[in-house]
Amino acid sequence: MTTAKEIEELNARLSDSEPKDIIQEVSKLWPNLAISFSGAEDVALIEMASKLLDKPAVFTLDTGRLHAQTYEFIESVRRHYELPIETLHPDPQRLGQLIKNKGLFSFYEDGHEECCSIRKVEPLKNKLATVDAWITGQRRDQSPTRAEVPIVQFDRNFSSPEHPVVKINPLANWSSEDVWNYIRMFDVPYNELHDAGFVSIGCEPCTRSIGPNQHEREGRWWWEEATIKECGLHRDNTKD
Ligand code: ADX
Ligand code: SF4
Repeated sequence: MTTAKEIEELNARLSDSEPKDIIQEVSKLWPNLAISFSGAEDVALIEMASKLLDKPAVFTLDTGRLHAQTYEFIESVRRHYELPIETLHPDPQRLGQLIKNKGLFSFYEDGHEECCSIRKVEPLKNKLATVDAWITGQRRDQSPTRAEVPIVQFDRNFSSPEHPVVKINPLANWSSEDVWNYIRMFDVPYNELHDAGFVSIGCEPCTRSIGPNQHEREGRWWWEEATIKECGLHRDNTKD
């Protein structure tokens, strides 16, 4: 199934489905799919997928700038589910050039796009060239840029005419509370930074804890506008 019309129909059909039913349905349609894992939402998806599939494929983008606690978290998920987790890394030459030219903290000066592009987007692009679909933990209430995230969509960012890529967001309808209720109910492993006031967690230099009544994305790239807080993984949320 690859036509835009079919994707639209599938999205409409699954719009009120439970995340586990969405995973089951899409894994039949696109057996060569992978879960993109970094945060609490993604482990809820891994929990669901591991009950439905034999060893679901999981990858994570290791930017080299994650918190020590995040590396421990990745390891605890690997052990808990007895799953091989593929870590994807930036191209050393591209990264070396950036650091040589601009240092290790250029994102505070000229924005996160260039660094995210080398550390996250390019490795993701290479990975998505090898799968037919990827599953993300995006939720609509996560950010103004995600308010219209569909359950199933063509990934306009990473598809090419020769190789269409489908993006699936089974938690699009879930709130943060839904995710955390699920995590508690099934004793799902989570990043210990959540117990220290961190809500949305990315790279260490670009993430901070938030206070009461702050929106969860306020701790990410806090020196930038809320409307551009996408790093390129989900650029399809912001481009027309
Ligand atoms: S980000 O684009 O701002 O970093 P966010 O942290 O909200 O994204 O995560 C949204 C979804 O993007 C996650 O549920 C996950 O599927 C994917 N994602 C984000 N960061 C990574 C990462 N480092 N490795 C793998 N997937 C990621
Ligand atoms: Fe670089 Fe920050 Fe983006 Fe991580 S989140 S890749 S450190 S700009």
